[in-house]
Amino acid sequence: MADKIRVLLNEEEVNARISEVAAQISRDYAGKNVHLICILKGGVFFTCELAKRLTIPVTLDFMSVSSYGSGTVSSGIVRIIKDLDEPLEGREVIIVEDIIDSGRTLAYLIEVLKQRNPAGIRLCTLLDKPERRVKKQVKVDYTCFSIPDEFVVGYGLDYDQKYRNLPYIGVIEQ
Ligand code: IMP
Ligand code: MG
Repeated sequence: MADKIRVLLNEEEVNARISEVAAQISRDYAGKNVHLICILKGGVFFTCELAKRLTIPVTLDFMSVSSYGSGTVSSGIVRIIKDLDEPLEGREVIIVEDIIDSGRTLAYLIEVLKQRNPAGIRLCTLLDKPERRVKKQVKVDYTCFSIPDEFVVGYGLDYDQKYRNLPYIGVIEQ
């Protein structure tokens, strides 16, 4: 049976907000190049929309990580499934994520990537669930939307690998 999905943020709202964040990043990095690291798979839709709106020079790389855990809870033990293609030495890096929940995945990733000596490393997320944060040290530099503690799908986010392609953010109704 098809799941019923309630729209939390529609396509127009999401795209308008991504434009605002892209403008902010373009201002903050004026005169520099940014190296976007897309966290697969969830970050891919957001990364494309963000990159298209940046007015500064952009390069892209991709990383895939899996956090061991059952169901919808991440364990904090992170495994790199696909590493970056290029070194980060001297680059202005922005990690682009779909959602920050407990912050465990990002806490680990930031530590790993810092060791590769980038010039700077910032974090940009489409969604943040601040109520769920366990790793309080994870500082988010650019957030499109802070949302309540609900399980969301769409715009890259999945439920059992489904619904990533929805052009909006929705909540599966029980
Ligand atoms: P964290 O390590 O707990 O911050 O987990 C972040 C990851 O959990 C995200 O990159 C998503 O893959 C997944 N996740 C967390 N909340 C949701 C949600 O509401 N919908 C879909 N995936 C989620
Ligand atoms: Mg993810």
